[in-house]
Amino acid sequence: MLVCHCRGITDRQIRRLVREGACSTRDVARATGAGLRCGGCRSNVKQVVDEAVQREHQKTRATTLLDLSIPLEG
Ligand code: FES
Repeated sequence: MLVCHCRGITDRQIRRLVREGACSTRDVARATGAGLRCGGCRSNVKQVVDEAVQREHQKTRATTLLDLSIPLEG
């Protein structure tokens, strides 16, 4: 799905950047220019970044708990 029309940036590109270490809309903007032209996509970029960051944190948490042999909740 195209998120930033001005720069042609997709949600997949944003998610990949987060997996590679980006953790904010600023990081994504620096890497891609998303949100830096008309600004109309900023809220959508933020939503994709926030969801991807949260997903990465959950993966990290699950991996850490597995590494420590702590049972996962739920
Ligand atoms: S749509 Fe992203 S800067 Fe214009």
